[in-house]
Amino acid sequence: MARYTIADLAAWKKSGKKWSMLTSYDAVTASVFDEAGVPVLLVGDSAGNNFLGEENTIPVTVDELIPLTRAVVHGSEKALVIADFPFGSYERSADQALETGIRFLKESKAHAVKLEGGVRVVEQIKALVKYGIPVFGHLGMTPQSVNAFGGFKVQGRNDSGDAILADALALQDAGCCAVVLELVPAELAAKITAALSIPTIGIGAGPSCDAQVLVWTDLMGLTPKPPRFARSYSNLRNEMIESARRWMVDVETGSFPAEAETFH
Ligand code: KIV
Repeated sequence: MARYTIADLAAWKKSGKKWSMLTSYDAVTASVFDEAGVPVLLVGDSAGNNFLGEENTIPVTVDELIPLTRAVVHGSEKALVIADFPFGSYERSADQALETGIRFLKESKAHAVKLEGGVRVVEQIKALVKYGIPVFGHLGMTPQSVNAFGGFKVQGRNDSGDAILADALALQDAGCCAVVLELVPAELAAKITAALSIPTIGIGAGPSCDAQVLVWTDLMGLTPKPPRFARSYSNLRNEMIESARRWMVDVETGSFPAEAETFH
């Protein structure tokens, strides 16, 4: 089967089919999520705090994300793979954004890119779309602006919701193929989803979005303290700790390797 494309996402918006997107930062998890049938994989700059050991996404660079994105493309066969533009790689100009987009498509073989912001990044989006690079937008609690927001707080309560709606419409007009809505009230996400002809992808944005995205380590129970909006479907952290401990005991007691694991 060929990979999913942005045409599939547009068709699902029309038919009302809900879909899922998951982060991935390496070939192994990409192959697992691809086999599970997850249609869209995001190599998020959340790799900063979920893979590279950073406190947040701000220090992440294009040079760090390119090999991770290439690994996710190589590890998957059917998923559409999105590369996230890290902080500092697109804000300055349309030219800078185009340069970053071209690098991601050529060097990592990503199929689309994602960037944070509304009206302020419209020129960047238009330049990318003009040269054939599909763009996903990202509004609400955009993590690259965490210092300006003063923490990970719900955005768009009361009047500021109108600004987020205006930003979403501007992203659609600029040519975005979908918009991530992060940490916004469910009512606002529902209003934006109804107003847009492109899909909304929610994370902490309630049940009305066309799609949902989660960080894979939250979904699988690897993150010690996952955010309230995430649901863990596995407890990988405990399972991995337990497995490592059992293996260490087997090594210490001499029961690993056994005959079946030994060559003569
Ligand atoms: O970087 C990321 O993982 C993201 C998602 C949380 C949407 O931007």
